[in-house]
Amino acid sequence: MTETLFTNISQLVTPAPGMQRGAAMRDLTVIPDVAMLVSGGVIRWIGPRADAPSNAQEHDLGGVAVVPGLIDPHTHAVWAGDRLADFEARVQGVPYEEILARGGGIRSSMRATGAASVDDLVALARPRLEALRDSGATSMEVKSGYGMDFDAELRMLQAVRALQTEYGLVPTLLIHVPPTEGRAEYVQAVCHDLIPGVVRDGLATAVDVFTEREAFTVAETRAILQAAKTHGLQTKLHADQFHAIGGTELACELGALSVDHLEASGPAQIAALAASDTVATILPGVTLHLGLPAAPGRALINAGAAVAVGTDLNPGSSPVFSTQLALALAVRLCRLTPAEALTASTVNAAAALGLSDRGALAPGQRADFLALHSPDWRDLPYTLGANPVRNVFVGGIPV
Ligand code: NIG
Ligand code: FE
Repeated sequence: MTETLFTNISQLVTPAPGMQRGAAMRDLTVIPDVAMLVSGGVIRWIGPRADAPSNAQEHDLGGVAVVPGLIDPHTHAVWAGDRLADFEARVQGVPYEEILARGGGIRSSMRATGAASVDDLVALARPRLEALRDSGATSMEVKSGYGMDFDAELRMLQAVRALQTEYGLVPTLLIHVPPTEGRAEYVQAVCHDLIPGVVRDGLATAVDVFTEREAFTVAETRAILQAAKTHGLQTKLHADQFHAIGGTELACELGALSVDHLEASGPAQIAALAASDTVATILPGVTLHLGLPAAPGRALINAGAAVAVGTDLNPGSSPVFSTQLALALAVRLCRLTPAEALTASTVNAAAALGLSDRGALAPGQRADFLALHSPDWRDLPYTLGANPVRNVFVGGIPV
């Protein structure tokens, strides 16, 4: 097994492994002038260069800071078509929800995506995933949800599968918006046909639902999440984006991995998340792009919740192609400290995907890490509009 000793690291900066909540999100370990030994894709040892095992091949990192690879726990990176006309309408005052209610928005992405082949979808998604990885993402969740029908949903998930190993993808089946007619039958078919079929083909590890006035009710969401659990899948939710209609409380009750968005969450939803093991995933790109209120990141951490950050990369509400930018925006828009934002984008993002083998730099963790351009890790949350990440390593190998 090849061993590599990474040397000349100005600072190695990491949260502790596993989900971190409340004040513990600020507890980073910062080790100056250090070396790190990797073998078989896993971190084996971290310590002073002088104490390192001598027979490993050396990789000099040039005196820069090293942080864990970022984990993007929420993307819709597979879509066809564009939303450029929606964008122009929105900046002139037409609300996102009104565009959706008129049959545009998500429904227009569904028409374009439904007409695309798996190969088309793979070709469209690849440069987006490449951009996320260049920005520091070493694992990324990708959702379906733009399928016009079940076959189109399955094509989206097959496109994710084609790119899964190359980019470290975690696939989620998203039940996004109901058909305009026959929604009760649709929910039944999701529970009895789509979910079992996805499980049979191993196409997703979790099911997500958009719980919102313009999408699914709490009762419909409950039925879908129950079916997911019955078939052994994890659950997560898009909730409280525009209105807090009870999705967050339901997700906490059912033990969902995460609730994502939370822009409209109030004290009751914050308390429910703080009392649960469900991760609160905030998506500050949506605040920037739609001009929505920011999710209450500060209040969630103060209450003791575990907060994660994602890009929500999608054509309608968050055309954010950088996981590092999402981290940096969480500091500005949701009032996380830089340390909290690093924890939110690493171990807590891993927890939002049900993973505990990554997100921290410690013996036994996957050797997914970033060498920055700077000797000071704080350039990661500080930088806007340029890339502070110099090299991305997955399992100890530069990509
Ligand atoms: O996370 N709000 C629901 N779904 C996506 C948006 C998808 C779209 O606008 O195409 C979101 O914001
Ligand atoms: Fe989303």
